[in-house]
Formats: sequence, structure tokens, C-alpha cells
Amino acid sequence: MGIKYIPEPFRIKMVETIKILTREEREEKIAEAKYNLFNLRGEDVYIDLLTDSGTNAMSQEQWAGVMKGDEAYAGASSYFKLVEAAQDVFGYKYIQPVHQGRAAEKVLFGLLMGVGKYSISNMHFDTTRAHVELAGARAIDCVVPEAGDPAKRVPFKGNMDVEKLESLIKEYGADNIGLVIMTITNNSAGGQPVSVQNVRETSEVCKKYGIKFCIDAARYAENAFFIKEREVGYENTSIKDIIKEVFSYADMFTMSAKKDTIVNMGGLLGIKDDEELYQACKGRTISYEGFVTYGGLSGRDLECLAIGLYEGLDENYLRYRIGQLEYLAARLDEAGIAYQAPVGGHGVFVDAKSMFPHIPYNEFPGQALAIELYKEAGIRSCDIGSYMLGNDPDTGEQLKAKFEFTRLAVPRRVYTQAHIDVMADALIAIKERASEVKGYKITWEPPILRHFQASLAPIEE
Ligand SMILES: Cc1ncc(COP(=O)(O)O)c(C=O)c1O
Repeated sequence: MGIKYIPEPFRIKMVETIKILTREEREEKIAEAKYNLFNLRGEDVYIDLLTDSGTNAMSQEQWAGVMKGDEAYAGASSYFKLVEAAQDVFGYKYIQPVHQGRAAEKVLFGLLMGVGKYSISNMHFDTTRAHVELAGARAIDCVVPEAGDPAKRVPFKGNMDVEKLESLIKEYGADNIGLVIMTITNNSAGGQPVSVQNVRETSEVCKKYGIKFCIDAARYAENAFFIKEREVGYENTSIKDIIKEVFSYADMFTMSAKKDTIVNMGGLLGIKDDEELYQACKGRTISYEGFVTYGGLSGRDLECLAIGLYEGLDENYLRYRIGQLEYLAARLDEAGIAYQAPVGGHGVFVDAKSMFPHIPYNEFPGQALAIELYKEAGIRSCDIGSYMLGNDPDTGEQLKAKFEFTRLAVPRRVYTQAHIDVMADALIAIKERASEVKGYKITWEPPILRHFQASLAPIEE
């Protein structure tokens, strides 16, 4: 074994029983779910790696916070505790809680984007792209080319291609760029980190052209840990100070707090100092989310979020968290299974294109592997490829994704080394019979974010 598993820096105080169906039962369930893993019941899943979002295990301090949550409609003490914690961690003046990340996108993007505008990002996550489009604008991805080669091991594969960013700004016109968005870590590129230097350089380009710069901050702490491990000059900087520096280069952030703040629900919108923008966001929050001091959340959620903001920065926890993924990746290396390497922060993104070279992009290799993982071991994962990307909003044509990944997103503080071994063993078993696996076709799809709801069927010869 090439790498040692880093033991959990916690012990277990409460357990949740999970059941294991037989292979025949799983085959029936996935057919009933029309081969869409979002249609499965959670109880029919053995290891749930659909997402690391909102699936985390809270600490005893957070559970104590549940009892302490102040449920006042206006002016709850939990709101002030959260705002102070977020101001302290990110260094921004204005903090608006919302119920999850896409709510922050909805509140903000409607103010900065519209028909004829563009959003440029290292990579837009699916809900981010959807909210750009719902606001009438178009989303352009601008990640460094190395991100497109899963085998190429470079330290900051999530970075923005800064030269290309500048040429895109010139091509589309600075006045037409509603926002530049830096997603940290870069989820769609495989949870790949972004360096401080790259954030700084992107910020300089934005300033030069007078464009607002936003961070999509879901995995701000995991990104900071990678910076500490990999970026020269940051080895002795604390996680908190790294985060402060990264955020100092942007004007605002949207954040799904269901990831690095280790809670089950929540989101934040942060604005550095633009009071006018904050006032406008407050108005939209009241319309879409609820009053400003709860933003679609219960007082107990605000309280847990305030605690989680600090717990997520703990270096022992982050070392174990990233270590768990590195252990899984090392097992895949031994078995010759390709993935977005080096492994990212919140999951292993297996290269389904390389596992199933006989399945074309429009028969969805990433989805085919996700279905096989469920059949093989009751593991629920998801496609991050052409199936997720969907159709061109203008032509309706199926888009061809840069990658065809199957994402095994690992919830925080939930699974043990034995579960991780089940994941590796399942992938190895599928690799051995890879040539027999077939692609899928879509039999029904909704117009937007289709992967959540679409029905599929296996392509029979
Ligand atoms: C990078 C990124 N941005 C935005 C979101 C949307 O957040 P939420 O699911 O909380 O609405 C996610 C969630 O998966 C994400 O990973």
C-alpha cells in the first residue's frame, strides 16, 4: 500500500444503520429509478457519494448549537453570531445568510447580469451556470488547459487561464461582462484547487477592466489547505490567514455553506464594502428567502453555521479529510484506474472516458459508471460530464463536456477507511468487466438542470 490512511481526529458518538441490498434488488431499484440516481431512495443506498453537500456529520458543539438557536423572526442572536464569525473569517463588511448556495446566486446574479451579458469563470458549477442563464446572460468557462488532461499532475489544476480571460474580455467587451467568478475549489474540474497567485492575477485583470470579481466559495477551507501544502511561501501561514488573503482580492462571494462549514443546510452571500449592492441584495433576499436576519434558515441553522465556519478551518481535520481522498486515489493508482489527478478536495473524479473508451459522450460514460457502481456495491455517485452539462440553450444540441467524470463525493466526517476500501474494490471490479458496460440514452428531460430529473434507458445493441 503506497499511502497510509490518516486516522479520524474524532470518535463516533451516534450511529446510523445502513442496509445493503442484494445485487438483484439493486438492479430492480435502478431500473425503477429510470437509471437516474437522484430518483433512488436514500435507504436503498449503501454508501452515498452523490454529493458532499449537506451530507456532513455535525459535531457535538454544533448539535448543542441546535438547542441554542434563536428562532426570533427579526434580530436573532444566532444571526449576529453568524455575521460576526463570517466577517472574522472572510474579512468582508456585509454578510447575508441564505438557505443554500444557489439562493445566493439567485439574489446576486439578477442584479449584475441580464440579456447580452456574460459571466466568465474558471468553471461554473451547474447551478451557477443555470442562474447565469436564468438571469438572461451566458456563461463562459476559462480554466487552465491542464485541467482537461486527467493524467497531468499539476498542483493548481483549478486555476483560471488568466491570459484567455483577458482576451475574452477584449472579445466580448468589458461592459458586457457582468461578473468574473472564481470557483474554489474548482468543483467541475474535479475539486481542483486555485492558487493565491492565480486569484491575485485574476483580480488584477478585473480591476484593469472595471469588472466585478466574485468567489464561488463552497470549498474555501479545502482550497486553503491545498495552498498551504502546495504553494511556495504559504507553508507556515495559517488556514485562516490564507482565506483572508484569497478573499481580499475579490469584491463579493456566494457560498454554499453545506460543504466546508460542515452543516446540513445554509448559504452565505458576502460583499466586501459595496453598500449599495448590499442594500439591493437585502431587498431581493426578503423577496426570495425571507427576512434579512434569517435568510431562509432556522435560527438553529444559523447557529450551527457560525460554529462550523471555525471547525472547518481546523488543520488536523483538513489533513484527515484530504488524506482520506488521497488514500482512495492511491488505491486507484495501484489498480491503474484513471481519475482527475492529483485527487481534489471533496471527491474522486474517475475518468469514465478512459474506463469506457467504447461509450461516446452522447451515451454518457460518466452516468454509465455511476449506474455500475450502484449495481456493483450500492454506491451512489454522479455524472460530471456531458449528461450533467445538458443541451446548448440556443440550439438545443447535446453539449460535449471537457471531461466525462463519475464523481464519488465524500461527505465530511461520515465514512471510515473500510467504506473507502469498498469504493476502491467496486471500481476495480467494474474495470475488470469494463468492455461489457453499455451507454445510455435519455427518454425524457426537463429544459434546465436536466440531470436531476431526466429518465434514461440502457442502449441495447
Ligand atoms: C462550486 C459550487 N457552487 C455552487 C453550488 C450550489 O450550492 P447549493 O447546492 O447549496 O445550492 C455548489 C453545490 O454543489 C457548488 O459545488
